[in-house]
Amino acid sequence: MNNEQSQQSATAFLEVLNGPLVGTRFPLGAETIIGRDDEDVPIQEGGIDLADTRVSRKHARIYIQRGRYYLEDCQSTNGTFLNTFRLQPDAPCVLREGSNIQVGGVHMRFRPMLNSAEASSDNNAATPWASEIGLNEEVFDLSLTANPDASASQADISMLFCPVDLPEPEISVVLDAPAVVDALREAITDDEKTSESDDLRRLRAMAQVSIGLGGEHDRESLFSKIMDFIFVIFPTAERAFVVLRDKESQEFKPAAASTREPSEEGEVLALSEAIVEEVVSQRRSILSSDAADDHRFDDQQSIQRLGIRSMMCAPLLVDNEVMGLIQIDTYRETHSFCEEDLQILTGIGAQVAIALKNFVLYEDIGHLFESFVTASVHAIEARDPTTAGHSFRVAEYSQHLATVVDQSGQKILRDINFSRDQMQELRYAALLHDFGKVGVREHVLIKAQKLYHSEMEVLEARFRYAHASLERQAYRELIDQHGELSPKEFKLRRAAMDKRLSREVAQLQRFMAMIQHANEPSVLEGEVTDDLRAVADFIFPGNDGEHVQLLTAPELDALTLARGSLTPEERLEIQSHVSHTFAFLSHIPWTASLSAVADIAHAHHEKLDGTGYPQGLVGDEIPVQSRIMAVADIFDALTAGDRPYKCSLGVDQALDILHHEARTGKVDPILVDVFIDSQAYQLFSQ
Ligand SMILES: [Fe+2]
Ligand SMILES: [Fe+2]
Repeated sequence: MNNEQSQQSATAFLEVLNGPLVGTRFPLGAETIIGRDDEDVPIQEGGIDLADTRVSRKHARIYIQRGRYYLEDCQSTNGTFLNTFRLQPDAPCVLREGSNIQVGGVHMRFRPMLNSAEASSDNNAATPWASEIGLNEEVFDLSLTANPDASASQADISMLFCPVDLPEPEISVVLDAPAVVDALREAITDDEKTSESDDLRRLRAMAQVSIGLGGEHDRESLFSKIMDFIFVIFPTAERAFVVLRDKESQEFKPAAASTREPSEEGEVLALSEAIVEEVVSQRRSILSSDAADDHRFDDQQSIQRLGIRSMMCAPLLVDNEVMGLIQIDTYRETHSFCEEDLQILTGIGAQVAIALKNFVLYEDIGHLFESFVTASVHAIEARDPTTAGHSFRVAEYSQHLATVVDQSGQKILRDINFSRDQMQELRYAALLHDFGKVGVREHVLIKAQKLYHSEMEVLEARFRYAHASLERQAYRELIDQHGELSPKEFKLRRAAMDKRLSREVAQLQRFMAMIQHANEPSVLEGEVTDDLRAVADFIFPGNDGEHVQLLTAPELDALTLARGSLTPEERLEIQSHVSHTFAFLSHIPWTASLSAVADIAHAHHEKLDGTGYPQGLVGDEIPVQSRIMAVADIFDALTAGDRPYKCSLGVDQALDILHHEARTGKVDPILVDVFIDSQAYQLFSQ
């Protein structure tokens, strides 16, 4: 039977929507095989040959039963899809108007009750179906758009909302959705328990499971909620267990257990391994009305020993993976559950599995990000090993301080509270507060003295050159006078020259000692200026008779720095780390709950009196988290192990400096007091 002939009598068609056969309509008989023609085994008469290598020879079939068309996968290699869902082999599904069928790479639409006039019309003409966008087409359109084989014109199809020529539906009931959801969150009262039917109570509890589990990020409260729900939904249940597969060992281990009545102290709630094995290996939900007589369990003794009378057990199943199981049972009554209960428990198992899977994903993402942050901190601290551990300690001090502030009953701190997310936000900000040091040149970052090592080497070489030049000049003078002097005079002149030379060498040595002293960052400008001026004024003759300065102007500037080891330009470069940190952190798409990380870190060098950097914020313009971090940062920088440019201070000295900073309006005096009163400074003491 060819397509034209069959179209005359067919009552249903498959219309090809993409690929080389696009537009072709295949009529459907009482049974139609969909597959691929083969020379040896041609497809049966009236069958649909899709000529696609991804299609099995006998891939699927469509048949009529009691006036309805059914689609069935015939154990195909690549599967048969109905509205994007893969059919189980030999599990037929009914076809509806507009159903999308995918076999191999070919998409087809099921079209029933096509009249002969329509069948003979041009395949490309507009059809009455064009304006009917139902759920099936919506699902199909999304899948087609995602199909790389689809041509551009087919991929243009998209969802339509609210056809303009249909009247607006009459609105009969309006509910405040958030209020309804909130009401569902609340526990069912005793009054409601008596007034509601079992069905309504179960329905309500199922909705509660769905809503309640969705937002849980804490494992303990997740399990405790599951147990609560179980006892509401199944009024006869006396015990409930959750078993989970261990990530490492892959063994199933109890994760939570609960009883309806308060359990005796020391009572051990145990599970039957026979039941766990049955559910996990077979991926089945089981109901046993009288477990002791249930022949399915080989290990009858364990069931009797555990006192199980009736029980239900459902796997926690996601993507065909058994994550664990839920069991509820009774030890008093047999026949406590019915088949409907088992269906509900299976549904709850699926919801719990999704919640657990989300929970695991959430934890994995958290660990992944935590590891990334840790690796980033190690990377930046590797550039300056003497600061190793600084960021982690600042994070610990900051979190400790924030916790104390959060719990403080002091009037002035009572309004400052930190949620769990805000604590996490502070932690990330503290861990990454100095990350911008990646933008600072390494020799500047670790500069230990006013002159770099290489500059000092050049200076020392110039001193040796000066020594040699002075010596050479003296001997040349002596040689020039040699012919004019008697041996005695020559001897006297030489002795005088040696004496002068010794004085000059001694002077050079004094100058070098002055420079080495002035080179220390702890030496202040006033202590050395005059001495260094004398060094800078010292000039010696070069090889070519030119005048050479013992100390250059840039060297003099560096050695007469007011404080520390950095020139003003280098200080600015170091300070730029805060802006680099902010730029770096601003590139990370933080979640809403962590959105302030960049701003908190940006303000860690701000001072209350506006003398900080880089923004010059004043007082309350500085986030309280940044003020907390500033106290932690200063304390750790002062007390951490020796750095090249400074020795570490004792705790008392560091606290004195913090007090001084507070008195002079730099850091928050209340936070300094909290830091000291809470003994936060002892966190890392031995
Ligand atoms: Fe910093
Ligand atoms: Fe720091």
